[in-house]
Amino acid sequence: MPLFLESRLIVLATIFKQNREGKLAQGQDAGVYAIETSGLTKSFGKVKAVVGLDLKVEEGALYALLGPNGAGKTTTINLLTTLIGPDKGMAKVAGYDVVKQPGMVRRSIGVTFQEVSLDRNLTGRSLLDIHGRLYQLPQKEIKKRIEQLVELVELQEVLDRPVKTYSGGMKRRLELARGLLTEPSILFLDEPTVGLDPHNRENIWAYLQELRSRGNLTIMLTTHYLDEAEKLADKVGIIDEGKLVVEGSPASLIASLGTDIIKLTGSGDLARFKEALRQQEWIAAFRVASERIKQDGSSIEGASAPVSAPRGVESPETAGKSEETALSEAVEATTTASDMAVEPGGITEILINLTSEAGRSVKPLVDLAEHNGFEVADVSLQRPTLNEVFFKYTGRRLRD
Ligand SMILES: Nc1ncnc2c1ncn2[C@@H]1O[C@H](COP(=O)(O)OP(=O)(O)OP(=O)(O)O)[C@@H](O)[C@H]1O
Ligand SMILES: [Mg+2]
Repeated sequence: MPLFLESRLIVLATIFKQNREGKLAQGQDAGVYAIETSGLTKSFGKVKAVVGLDLKVEEGALYALLGPNGAGKTTTINLLTTLIGPDKGMAKVAGYDVVKQPGMVRRSIGVTFQEVSLDRNLTGRSLLDIHGRLYQLPQKEIKKRIEQLVELVELQEVLDRPVKTYSGGMKRRLELARGLLTEPSILFLDEPTVGLDPHNRENIWAYLQELRSRGNLTIMLTTHYLDEAEKLADKVGIIDEGKLVVEGSPASLIASLGTDIIKLTGSGDLARFKEALRQQEWIAAFRVASERIKQDGSSIEGASAPVSAPRGVESPETAGKSEETALSEAVEATTTASDMAVEPGGITEILINLTSEAGRSVKPLVDLAEHNGFEVADVSLQRPTLNEVFFKYTGRRLRD
């Protein structure tokens, strides 16, 4: 990041800090949490958009609400930012109750919405200026903050152009600047990078990370991008059908699934190798996802191969969800939809989870294969992702 940006960020951080300290005097509940909900519920007719949501987000944290389309993410943001009222339950933002003190909540937050909500005919500068006036900031202050923020989001060169001439990425960055103009202590970002190319997404990620490292800003964002949640969030709440299905740090959620998944590709005596796999203590689960490659390199479609796991762990539906079952599910979830039938003499793909004690060692596995008539052509490691976590708790994949 260029030096001038660094210095701007330091100024911003100082402002955030002062702002936050200033607010504590105004009858705010000085509780530990920046965002706290209990039993928060909202329906639209028969659609239960948010159902009994209990959330606690600590000050300074970045919390990602991750979930598929229609999971209730935007509804949650709308409830927390006072755009709509709950049917039941309680929510506090910056210590203020969203129903009883909506004005104070609004003064403490910045928001960017899922749909771009910018007046297309205004220039970036006038748009920010109007926003500052709406919040009754002094003109001099507005000018100063605009200067700082457009440097942060690198929009100096287009600031005096009408928004309709901006690219999607520029609009998102302008929205981010608008969200930050009032120096919120909590920033809500509903799908901040949706529709952006990888370069622009990474830019937004970098701005957010910089902002966080310099000030004590709490951020709640929604996303259906797994990598975004995994990369940015201290804590992820996975939401589905209006309910929080699981939450935790990305690393702890992934770790709860077990170790990495090893993918072996090869050919030979599959039955013998499978039997050998079943007998190893250090193998937690395996699955054959087999494919015969024809001479011309294309694959032949066939029926799905079943999940196999040693020591009685045969099905991911097994009740009680033992650790081994979870591992088996992780293997299951990682398998692509193109599972193929086992063709004698063909190239076979096997996904294997070692037990955590076995670590990541692949050598014993390759040796085992070769001692049992299975010649290994390729080995790769697949790390489970939040997709597998979602699968474990919902039986579905996020991308569905
Ligand atoms: N104003 C509304 N009127 C009727 N139904 C609504 C309204 N807003 C949301 N819903 C419904 O509530 C559910 C949750 O919607 P919401 O927009 O919160 O999902 P989301 O997780 O943000 O999805 P997406 O990833 O597509 O943005 C959906 O079934 C949606 O159709
Ligand atoms: Mg949404």
